[in-house]
Formats: sequence, C-alpha cells, structure tokens
Amino acid sequence: MKKTKILIIDDYDVLRKTIVMYLTDLGYQCIEAENGKIGLAHIKEYQPDIILCDLRMPVLDGFGVLRNISSIIKTIPFIVISGDGDIADVIKAHQMGAWDYVIKPIKDFSILNLAIEKVTNKAKLKKENIEYQNNLENLVQSRTKALQKHKEKLEEMVLSRTQELQNSIIELKKTQSQLVQAEKMASLGQLVAGISHEINTPVGIGVTLASNLEARTEMLSKLYFDNNLKKSDLENYLEIAVDSSQMILSNLKRAAELIRSFKLVAVDQSSENKRYFDLGSYIKDVLRSLQNQLKKKSHQIVIHIDEEIFINSYPGTFSQIITNLIQNSLIHGFEEIDYGKITIDLFVEDNSLILIYSDNGKGIPKENLQKIFTPFFTTKRGKGGSGLGLHIIYNLVTTKLHGNIKCETAKNEGIKFKIWIPLGK
Ligand SMILES: Nc1ncnc2c1ncn2[C@@H]1O[C@H](COP(=O)(O)OP(=O)(O)OP(=O)(O)O)[C@@H](O)[C@H]1O
Ligand SMILES: [Mg+2]
Repeated sequence: MKKTKILIIDDYDVLRKTIVMYLTDLGYQCIEAENGKIGLAHIKEYQPDIILCDLRMPVLDGFGVLRNISSIIKTIPFIVISGDGDIADVIKAHQMGAWDYVIKPIKDFSILNLAIEKVTNKAKLKKENIEYQNNLENLVQSRTKALQKHKEKLEEMVLSRTQELQNSIIELKKTQSQLVQAEKMASLGQLVAGISHEINTPVGIGVTLASNLEARTEMLSKLYFDNNLKKSDLENYLEIAVDSSQMILSNLKRAAELIRSFKLVAVDQSSENKRYFDLGSYIKDVLRSLQNQLKKKSHQIVIHIDEEIFINSYPGTFSQIITNLIQNSLIHGFEEIDYGKITIDLFVEDNSLILIYSDNGKGIPKENLQKIFTPFFTTKRGKGGSGLGLHIIYNLVTTKLHGNIKCETAKNEGIKFKIWIPLGK
C-alpha cells in the first residue's frame, strides 16, 4: 500500500527532525522544509497528502503558505504548528483554511498522531462526499438527458397521434355527412313511395267510377237510339250519373289535394328553402304523406293545435323531424303493438314554438337515454337501423332552428320529445 506523504514545514530543526523521526516510525513518508518558500516548492514537487506547518518562520511564514495554496487545502489537510500562547494566530490560520492545530512545545507526540488521524479521516470523508456529489451530479445529468429524450419522444408521439386523430376525425366527418345525405335521400324515397300509394286509391276509384259511368251512358244511348228508353231507365241513369260524378269529383279533388301537399313536402325536403308558412297545416300535410305507413296497423295520430301558427322557417326541416319521429315510433316504439297512439301538441309559449311529440310504445330503457342523440346509436343494427335519425333531428333542431330538444321516457310508458324553437322578435 502506498505510504501517506507528510510535508513538515518548520524552521526549528530539532523539532522538525523529531517529528520526522516520530512519523517515519509510525510508517509515514516524510518530506521536510525549513521555511514556507521551500515548503511551497515541495508541495508542487511531491504533492503531499498532509501538510504540517509552523506559522512563524523566516523567508515565508505559515500564513504566506496558506495564502498561496488556498485552493488546494480544501482537499489536502493542513495542520498548523503554533507556539503556546499564539491562539490568535491559530484562529487566523483556521479562517484561512487550516484544518487543525498542535501547540509547541509538543509534550506528547501522540497528540500529533491523533491530529493526523483526525484530518486523515476528515479528508477521506470529504473525498467520499465529493465523489458522491460528482456521482450524483452525473446521475442527475444522465437522468435529465434520458428524461429529455423521453420527453422528446413523447412529444413526437403525441404529435403523430394528434395528427392521426385529426385525420380520422376529418374522415369521420366526411362519412357522417355522406350518411346524413344518404339518409335524406332515403327519406325522400320513402316519401315518393308513400305518395304513389296514397294517390293510387282516389285515382283508382275515379277510374272505376268513370268507366262504370261510361258503360251506363253507352247502355242508355243504345236504348235511346233503339227507341227502347223507358222513363225508369233514364231516372236510374241520372241517379247513378249524379252519384258517380260527385264521387269522381271528390276523389279527384282528394288526389289533387294529396299532390299539392306532397309537392310541398317533397320540395321542402329536398331543398333548404326558408319561407313563411302555416306550421299546423303543413304538419297535417306531412302526416297525410305518412298515412299508408300508419295504416299497416291500427295506429292513431292525434294532433292538437290551438291556433294557426305562421312562422318564417324551413318547412322541409319540420317535415324531416316529424317523419323521423313517426318512423321511430313505428319501428321501435310500436314494434309489438298494433294499436299505438301518437300525440303531437303544438303551441306558442314565451315567444317560443313548442312541439311535444309522444307515443305510448315500449319506451327507451334508462341506460340508453343519454345515447339516443349520438350518431350511430341504434338498437336495430343489422336490422335496418343506422342510428342517425335522432342525431339528424338533434342537429336540425339545435343548429338549423337554434332550438333545443329533450327526451323523456320510462320503460313501457312510451316516449315524449319536447322541442323548443325560439321564434325571434
Ligand atoms: N319512439 C321510440 N320508442 C322506443 N325507442 C326509440 C324511439 N325512438 C328512438 N328509439 C331508440 O333510439 C335509437 C336511436 O334512434 P335513431 O332514430 O337515431 O336510430 P334508428 O332508428 O335505430 O336508425 P335510423 O333512424 O338511422 O334508421 C333507436 O335505435 C331506438 O332504440
Ligand atoms: Mg330512426
């Protein structure tokens, strides 16, 4: 093991030699200097582990040495050898960085050994502490670096994920608007089917009556030209002719009426026109166009409108809302019900239009209630439901009509939608 190197700086030869002898005996390697100047040169040359230094010396005293090596004695123990009674010197040396002191004359050399052991331990602890601190700093630095890298990676990840999410949102929005468009076209298609069916009946009756009348007229003219016409034949014919023409007229009128209302509804559904219209009779027109769907079972629609409500709004939007609500009642609410009842109440309150739509069908379970306006929520997936009907209604009411819609329901008690639409000033 390497010996501990001790530099002894003292101008008093006898003491210096005695110290060297004593310490060499204890196994230390000793270097001597008789004044501060030589001492400094030795420090440079030998790099001692411990310095023992007298304070009062010729050429360069102990304070001079301390001043010169102030930076290195933070780690190299410096023990002052001071004359008895010079305690002020010891304090000054201590302030300048000395670690410990021994008083001359040294009566018991073991005090010197004790001081050396003490500073050796202290130096060791200091060294360990510095190493520990360095290690810690290194550790902190490397951890900081690692964290920084990790952070950068995370940021990159967040960025790329955000980009992905944005892309998929754009994609979803596209799909959604395509689906909304498709839904609109589909309801228009249904409307056209409804119209054909409805008009078929009065026109069919009209054709039957007209051909019957034609046949009767031919028979009558034959009797007349053959001179076989009796008074009773004429009376008979006239009765039929009056009845038939009345019925033909009323059926044609009905067909004309249907065409008029279908035309309005269809045009409004396909376009976005805003116009001034009577909402009550418009809703009745819409209901008429849905009549054939309602008639498949014995469902009933009751509509309460207190007074005429003229509004400047989008009729097509109302037709879409009512159509979708009724379709939902038929498909979902009245799934296993033959005698369902739908009620529509329409009134104005506090400058708002209020439309309350209710059915007495099977209702919506509580756990589904918050989801019904969410796009693509349906309990009929794979059975014709796309889950867009109520979402479209919600959007139309809130965005286009600037209103609000709320649904109340209880299982087996049907549903109730309340729609508010501000009427403006
Ligand atoms: N009148 C109702 N009675 C009972 N349940 C209803 C009623 N209206 C809507 N629902 C429930 O709300 C869900 C969502 O309705 P929505 O109209 O949005 O979609 P859908 O009718 O299933 O499909 P789509 O309208 O796109 O054809 C339905 O699947 C159904 O479970
Ligand atoms: Mg629906």
